[in-house]
Amino acid sequence: MKFFIDTANLEHIKEAESLGILDGVTTNPTLMAKEGIKGQNNILKHYVTICEMVNGPVSAEVISTDFDGMVAEGNNLAALHPNIVVKVPMIKDGIKAIKYFTDNGIKTNCTLVFSAAQAILAAKAGATMVSPFIGRIDDGNWDGVQLIEQIVHIYGIYGFPTEVLAASIRSSLHIVKCAEAGADIATCPLSSILGLFKHPLTDIGLEQFLADYKKVNG
Ligand code: G3P
Repeated sequence: MKFFIDTANLEHIKEAESLGILDGVTTNPTLMAKEGIKGQNNILKHYVTICEMVNGPVSAEVISTDFDGMVAEGNNLAALHPNIVVKVPMIKDGIKAIKYFTDNGIKTNCTLVFSAAQAILAAKAGATMVSPFIGRIDDGNWDGVQLIEQIVHIYGIYGFPTEVLAASIRSSLHIVKCAEAGADIATCPLSSILGLFKHPLTDIGLEQFLADYKKVNG
């Protein structure tokens, strides 16, 4: 399973990248706003900065909701850097735009996916990745991981090459559950990635090893 970081925070990206296990980055307008990145020029520059930090796909989201607008924005984003993946919302014009980008060799991430039905449409349009928002599904008292299993199963039957990118990850357990469910990618906040390291027996065991070494070696 590939690990993406779901942030526009450069420090978080740097820390995840330094671990040597980072495969890509996803952003969205909310994450960009959270970092105080405003104005089209600054937003585009920020994407380029991220692309130069990570050797892998960087999802940059369009904000238009009509086909022509999405195509113009997506072409512009894709021209910024070869790592850019154009993130497109799961709406009718979004699916048409994904088909256009697919036909023109531009990679896409179909976002705001909450059902297997929507995931089928994304795959039919040739999306490179599909982003089911599992945390937000859990928030509504449904099972987000079950949706990942369902999409992985359906894509497997038909051999759809669209990668299942589990998004809206809220915990390290979510990452493990998505791995079990066969997600191709999990995009996570830094805290959930760092949480994977944690086990009290590792800490206790390491402390013991170091103490025993010190006893003998001083
Ligand atoms: O990038 C999309 C997704 O990961 C958003 O997550 O936590 O806002 O539901 P969240």
